[in-house]
Amino acid sequence: MLNNLKEQPKDKILGLMALYRADPRSTKLDLGVGVYKNDEGVTPVMRAVKAAERILVEEQTSKSYVGLAGDPAFAAVMSDLLLEKCVDRARMAAVATPGGTGAVRQAFELIKLANSDVRVFVSDPTWPNHVSILGYLGITVVNYRYFDTENRAVDFDGMMEDLADITAQDVILLHGCCHNPTGANLNLTQWQTLIDLINEKGCLPMIDIAYQGFGDGLDEDAAATRLVASSVPQLLIAASCSKNFGIYRERTGLLIAINENIGETAVTQGNMNHLNRQNFSFPPDHGARIVTKILTDDAMKADWIAELEEMRLGMLTLRQGLADELQRLSGSNRFGFIAEHRGMFSQIGTTPDKVEKLRVEHAIYMVGDGRLNIAGLNANSVRVLAEAIIEAGI
Ligand code: LMR
Repeated sequence: MLNNLKEQPKDKILGLMALYRADPRSTKLDLGVGVYKNDEGVTPVMRAVKAAERILVEEQTSKSYVGLAGDPAFAAVMSDLLLEKCVDRARMAAVATPGGTGAVRQAFELIKLANSDVRVFVSDPTWPNHVSILGYLGITVVNYRYFDTENRAVDFDGMMEDLADITAQDVILLHGCCHNPTGANLNLTQWQTLIDLINEKGCLPMIDIAYQGFGDGLDEDAAATRLVASSVPQLLIAASCSKNFGIYRERTGLLIAINENIGETAVTQGNMNHLNRQNFSFPPDHGARIVTKILTDDAMKADWIAELEEMRLGMLTLRQGLADELQRLSGSNRFGFIAEHRGMFSQIGTTPDKVEKLRVEHAIYMVGDGRLNIAGLNANSVRVLAEAIIEAGI
């Protein structure tokens, strides 16, 4: 039986992680997978996370099952973090999931249950795993233009043109902030225009938000999600705690479904619980409990926000530093977009062979589409990268 199996296509990002680990060069620089690193190249356990874990060790009296949707307190604190109070809680169904990817997967399964012929409109480019999971589930993917590769900014006209075909039977997948992989984001005026289109067409919006607090700030990064949530009848939100709480391996995510009418919430919730049961039964709890502890304790929350803000500002400094260094070396402002982009990533506009050249000749690892993880840099490696970029003729 098992000998019938065929090799699966390699995941670009994870394949790169493996290559990096196997590279013996001491100068190697990992700008691949989206993991935050501090100046010493370490992905730290955040202070508030450590504090919350200590309390959990002391206080927790049982590791018995919680519930198919996870702890309701986690859903409550996370929906407040994402949405403040802009939507009536009674319209929201929510389930904890194994990471943001789990939330994305459950969301796709939910829409397939609702409409087996659903088409999902995704930005071109998007996080490759979006397309991969959709393909795995047999859901039709439609690309909409998103990135103007000339200016390295959002191609909003192209996007709106491509979305003209969307119908009430379709889903539009959006990145709440810090677009992955490009780093280019819609402004709030563009979001409003998009909301008008969504309401005119009647399609279901889905927001994947994995980097709240990594762009312009916790509230600023949630502003678009809040605007959409308060302007449309229905919405799916897949949220991740991996990056902003630094709890990648704890697999902590939440899927929220906002219903048009309160009377529909129970059935939606039942479907989401059912999907959890079918796929993994009870969602992981440890990370969700850490997040809940932090967000319900004023001192821990303040410390978490302070540390997250240090990380965010550090990334902005690295962006500016890289843009400045490239300006100095290239004598042009063609890399100015790096300072304008937000979040961990920027797509710098190059070819896979030049990305490969950087890897082979300089031990610099970035995703083949030219996606660069800014948080993988530090004050010294900014210069090393800038020189390599110019030398590679990018
Ligand atoms: C990334 O885009 O690098 C991260 O979201 C990690 C992943 O799972 O791909």
